[in-house]
Amino acid sequence: MKQVSPDEAVGLKFPEWLIMVVSRDAKGQPNVQPAGWGMICSGDPLYVAVAISPENYTCQCIRETGEFVFAWPGEGQDELIMQTGTCHGNEVNKFEEFNIPWSEPVATNVPLLDGAAANLECQVMHEYQPGDCVMFIGEVVAAHVPDEPIGKLSNFAGKFAVARPL
Ligand SMILES: Cc1cc2nc3c(=O)[nH]c(=O)nc-3n(C[C@H](O)[C@H](O)[C@H](O)COP(=O)(O)O)c2cc1C
Repeated sequence: MKQVSPDEAVGLKFPEWLIMVVSRDAKGQPNVQPAGWGMICSGDPLYVAVAISPENYTCQCIRETGEFVFAWPGEGQDELIMQTGTCHGNEVNKFEEFNIPWSEPVATNVPLLDGAAANLECQVMHEYQPGDCVMFIGEVVAAHVPDEPIGKLSNFAGKFAVARPL
């Protein structure tokens, strides 16, 4: 066994499930960013966690409204991941710029992402900053799946693979 540095260790994380974190700012403008650092962290009640850089507009949006949508991106959303992960919602309205299709939520005011494998509407329960990212823990207050199952995307260092439902 050989020792590696923390910088090398973070590169060992792939494959990584991706999350699309949808939010809305205080003025009502919707925003979305991909996040590799997201997970379910409680089953009962159902809580999810996302780690968001405080420099991202998403962090400000979630703090302003206390809500977000945790969506697993679906097959065919590769381009959307790269589009929304390389610009900031305070500089561009991503939903307009990239013509992102969405559906009405039922329990929050945050748009649901059409084409995602699932959309979980969340209300923020806790916020921590253990290091350089802010961890938002959200309680899932409503969950949505497409009429026909859609495969989830996994990130292999910038190349996306589809996990199809069995
Ligand atoms: C594949 C991928 C994974 C990413 N994972 C994260 C993440 O886990 N946390 C994070 O804060 N940013 C992550 N980013 C970067 C943000 O998505 C990016 O900075 C985005 O432009 C922020 O948008 P916003 O300023 O509108 O919130 C990721 C980007 C990509 C392309």
